[in-house]
Amino acid sequence: MDRDIDIVLCGSLNVDFIAFVEHLPVVGETISTRHCQIVSGGKAANQAVAASRLGANVAMIGRVGDDELGRRLKADLVRDGINAQHVWPTVGVETGISMIAVNPEGQNTIVTSLGANAYVSLKDIDNAESLFQQAKFAMLQMEMEQAVGEYFIRKAYEKGVRLVLNLAPVVPIDSEVLRMVALLIVNETEATQLTGMPIHSLEDAERAAEALWMRGVEQVIITLGANGAILKTAASLYHVSSPKVQAVDSTAAGDCFVAATTHFWKSTGDLYVAVQHAVKVAALSVTKKGAQSSLPNLAEYLKFSKTL
Ligand code: RIB
Repeated sequence: MDRDIDIVLCGSLNVDFIAFVEHLPVVGETISTRHCQIVSGGKAANQAVAASRLGANVAMIGRVGDDELGRRLKADLVRDGINAQHVWPTVGVETGISMIAVNPEGQNTIVTSLGANAYVSLKDIDNAESLFQQAKFAMLQMEMEQAVGEYFIRKAYEKGVRLVLNLAPVVPIDSEVLRMVALLIVNETEATQLTGMPIHSLEDAERAAEALWMRGVEQVIITLGANGAILKTAASLYHVSSPKVQAVDSTAAGDCFVAATTHFWKSTGDLYVAVQHAVKVAALSVTKKGAQSSLPNLAEYLKFSKTL
């Protein structure tokens, strides 16, 4: 029997070509490396996998090309226990692809070719109506057409499903739609793009979180990599620090954080507690290479957590 869905996601599935390089390339530079991985990724698919591995019942809406890579991405979701009935093959379009460079500090740059992800439609979301009736939470990123993303947010809001928006990449989202978001999660770079406020310190990040919250989102998180995260709620402003780890690859760490926050918010009912879990789950993910290959399951997280 199908399990009831806790979390519904809409968004990207990509094949990630990850090159481990001595330094991130600058304009006009060619870099060679002998170390490369081809792994399953895409922000939405990564978030779906991370939440499922932590114990959530997850369903995903998305599109892949009608090709071998697309079939592989969908099969990976199913293997991770995700309901992928609404991940559709799209004839005549290639599967989404990301080209990622990772330096020895684990930092990365990413270029994504949207491919089939750009073909997710309003109709795809309408066809997944039953998922919104079951889900308590929804997660969205923006590797898709903006109008489709905004439609997903409106749909979740109308159905009383709490929407967690990871506004990556940043788009100039409609302000009325932004007020329907229960939790906005962005990293420092994205927060600066949205507010125009440079972030060089915790105080800068706190000011940017306040500025984003003033736009009418219920709650805001700015992730700060190794420095943890800032959480802004109506009542408080928190800094949650991250455990120190040996980082090898930060690819998908942000996705891991978003999924862990959503999952533990759902299961504990306490967003602050959820963020305390999420910084630790994300820290564990950067100790492994790859995108979905780096995402821990609940047992791995609990074991790691005991060592802190
Ligand atoms: O957040 C990491 C993800 O961003 C990668 O898996 C890549 O595919 C891009 O979507």
